Amino acid sequence: MDKIIINGGRPLYGDVRISGAKNAALPILASALLTEGTNTFHNIPDLVDIKTIKKLLTSMGAQISGTETVEINVDKITDCTASYDLVKTMRASILVLGPLVARAGMAKVSLPGGCAIGARPVNLHLKALEEMGAHVELSNGYIEAKAKRLKGAEISFDLPTVTGTENIMMAATLASGVTVLNNAAREPEIVNLADVLKGMGAKISGAGTDVITIEGVTSLTPTEAEVIPDRIEAGTFMIAAGMTGGELNITGCNPHHLEALINKLRDTGMEISSSKNRLKVSSSDKINSVDIKTTPHPGFPTDLQAQMMAYMSIASGLSVISETVFENRFMHVSELIRMGADIVIQGGNAVVRGVPKLRGAQIMATDLRASASLVLAALVAEGQTEISRVYHIDRGYETIEKKFSALGADIKRVK
Ligand code: UD1
Repeated sequence: MDKIIINGGRPLYGDVRISGAKNAALPILASALLTEGTNTFHNIPDLVDIKTIKKLLTSMGAQISGTETVEINVDKITDCTASYDLVKTMRASILVLGPLVARAGMAKVSLPGGCAIGARPVNLHLKALEEMGAHVELSNGYIEAKAKRLKGAEISFDLPTVTGTENIMMAATLASGVTVLNNAAREPEIVNLADVLKGMGAKISGAGTDVITIEGVTSLTPTEAEVIPDRIEAGTFMIAAGMTGGELNITGCNPHHLEALINKLRDTGMEISSSKNRLKVSSSDKINSVDIKTTPHPGFPTDLQAQMMAYMSIASGLSVISETVFENRFMHVSELIRMGADIVIQGGNAVVRGVPKLRGAQIMATDLRASASLVLAALVAEGQTEISRVYHIDRGYETIEKKFSALGADIKRVK
């Protein structure tokens, strides 16, 4: 199993280009199930999760070629099953559920079950499909959903679920009648998916707000579209600049998607300037501590909570980090403590008392974003850090060690 070895203490300088967003590319690739003919998608990141969804779609009859630009043809859906083997490695496999029921009239998708960051059920996806007239059954660990043709419905999500909104938005494109999604998630990835679906001929309005309206059509046609930049990758590099005492020019990003983070980082003392698709970020001598509360977009993203905690662990003063989106999303804490951080968990809050220095240690990556926080901590720690189980990082960060090394970090991957 690969490991990443980092000798900390080097400030990062230079230009880094952001890859396409994993969380936009996954639903966009799944949306190809809705059309016959060849869809072309640009700016797809080269990640393990993308390989997983390609494998899943291929098992359903898709013909797929290309890496950064992906051509995907699903003239015929040959199998409507998403097996446990693939769903267990990536929960987002659930994104095939809506498109399959909408186009093929049936789907059999393994239940994702629990994961490292909490229970993460899919009950809201299933309830919405039932409200659209699907017959949904759970048997032998699989969700089986059937509907001759889904019917438009007024759906109110109890929580603004990101993949739930995406799944039901895709399902509704081919339903008969109008579907209204109330309390929909507002993430930029949802807007990106809606734009792709509109390019296929879907009638959608309100994406990016909490009410999305979809007027069903009888068929969709293939499209060509571009995936938005990965705001979580961009945010991780911004925090890296602040932590290491460096200055970075982050290109190919969308600063509008990062407003909550930019405001917090300015409060820590960082200097940030932005233009259309570029951010210039500089660290400050003193890192002010700030409190963080994760909430759905446009609030502070839960996917940057762990990285922000690594930053706050070397700030001057006390920071309270509240996680309100997922329970149990503090697996990085015990590893940060092994590196000398002073963090106490109290329910959904982590109380972080900044320390002057972190120290290198042997640590273990536990989930995708937790792993990114450990890389950040290692970049400033005194001495050497060895991070094992880095396959978690490869799920969501494209060539992370190459990008950091080009900015001056002493980082390498060993097999
Ligand atoms: C997506 C992102 C993930 C991010 C998360 C929150 C993708 C592929 N993944 O995950 O990176 O951390 O949004 O921004 O886009 N919930 C239910 N029942 C449901 C669905 C969700 O109770 O049926 C709860 C979850 O347990 C969680 C909250 O709703 O507490 C939000 O989860 P959700 O937005 O669905 O996260 P994902 O779409 O899985």
